[in-house]
Amino acid sequence: MKKIVLLISGRGSNMQAIVESAIAEQWPAQIAAVISNRTDAGGLDYAVSRGIPTAVVVSKEFTTREEFDAALLAKIDEFEPDLVLLAGFMRILTADFVKHYEGRMLNIHPSLLPSFVGLATHQQALDAGVKIHGATVHFVTPELDHGPIVAQAAVQVLPDDSEQSLAARVLAQEHIIYPWSVRQFVEGKIQLVDNRVRIAE
Ligand code: GRF
Repeated sequence: MKKIVLLISGRGSNMQAIVESAIAEQWPAQIAAVISNRTDAGGLDYAVSRGIPTAVVVSKEFTTREEFDAALLAKIDEFEPDLVLLAGFMRILTADFVKHYEGRMLNIHPSLLPSFVGLATHQQALDAGVKIHGATVHFVTPELDHGPIVAQAAVQVLPDDSEQSLAARVLAQEHIIYPWSVRQFVEGKIQLVDNRVRIAE
């Protein structure tokens, strides 16, 4: 049984997709905890309703990034996770924190990396005029929105797309590729070779 800790900041729809897939597909995994940096993260209610332990480490109560990350790390490690998942966790993490979870922390980013790192990725895609946009699941490395790619999904950008309509189409794909990626991890099918991900058959 692999233990998973999920980190969220908001509505937690990716977290929900992962929890539901884990249950429906009977993954060899246990959702050990959902941890938020905000007390008002909507996803916490869902986790409670599923009987998943929750915790909040309030980021705005800390004066430095280092102090917050140290407190968050201590809280996460109480649950002894094999895998830490960033699921709409809106924080830039220190290199020490990231290194502590090297090879066992994944993130979902709403663009086809390496295009459009950072925030407002859907607007960035519209501004650039790309015809294909999407989402990426990747291992977390100290450089923001970089790291070995586990899975990507593409959607077409339509001529009359708004930021919202594009985001909704991408989100539907996120809810497919993130659970899929996590399942590969907990089933031991992910290998990192030369900083690239190989999925075993
Ligand atoms: C998703 O689009 C994810 O890719 C990004 O933040 C959003 C979080 O949505 N990192 P949710 O909280 O999972 O619903």
